[in-house]
Amino acid sequence: MRRASEDHREAHAARLPGGAQECGVYPSDPLKMRVLANMVRAMQAKRLLEVGCGLGYSALWLAEAAGPGGSVETIDRFPEHAELAEGFAKEAGLESRVKVLTGDSDAVLSGLHGPYDFVHDDGWFAVRPPHFRRVLELLRAGGVLAMSNWFLLVQSMAEEPNLDWSEFAGPNWRENVQAFARELASERGLEVAWMMNPGVALAVKLA
Ligand SMILES: C[S@@+](CC[C@H](N)C(=O)[O-])C[C@H]1O[C@@H](n2cnc3c(N)ncnc32)[C@H](O)[C@@H]1O
Repeated sequence: MRRASEDHREAHAARLPGGAQECGVYPSDPLKMRVLANMVRAMQAKRLLEVGCGLGYSALWLAEAAGPGGSVETIDRFPEHAELAEGFAKEAGLESRVKVLTGDSDAVLSGLHGPYDFVHDDGWFAVRPPHFRRVLELLRAGGVLAMSNWFLLVQSMAEEPNLDWSEFAGPNWRENVQAFARELASERGLEVAWMMNPGVALAVKLA
């Protein structure tokens, strides 16, 4: 599936003005997903939400961990991604637990009803996502918000980042990612911990 995601990105990028960055399908790290899946198991989370389905790699990890009766609602703006993700969910025998919702996160999230036990945000990148408040509203007290893509915080502190991230994350990427980290850390009602490799923030919503 990770291979399929890479192949898809290459083909999709060729049809998009914004190329690979616009397609945005960069599958989650398997080690990170193993940790998140175990967290789902330990919490016995049943109602899961994800922003950034891609082809569904992370959603399948979460759906498997949620067990029978569990569900993962996963959002993606591209119908092409949704269709492929539905196919992979079926192949894995997890189609009854995975529901792909197509549209921009803001629009889709405004029509959802909480509470969710666990939210995985794999759609945000570099700047505070506009859907941040809505995601917190939908999360139950004691629930976990796992935010991927925090590797950029480590990169923002490195003297020599491994890439010129301004091309992907905009010219003010260092300031933006650090400002959001500060905001997240000082958010009342959240207890946040970061794991820096592969870069995930784990936030528990306090009662
Ligand atoms: C990093 S990829 C997700 C990878 C996926 N979770 C996996 O493990 O394979 C990000 C995905 O989020 C989608 N996306 C990004 N921002 C979005 C938004 N605001 N609303 C809906 N989809 C979004 C992109 O189309 C892309 O498919």
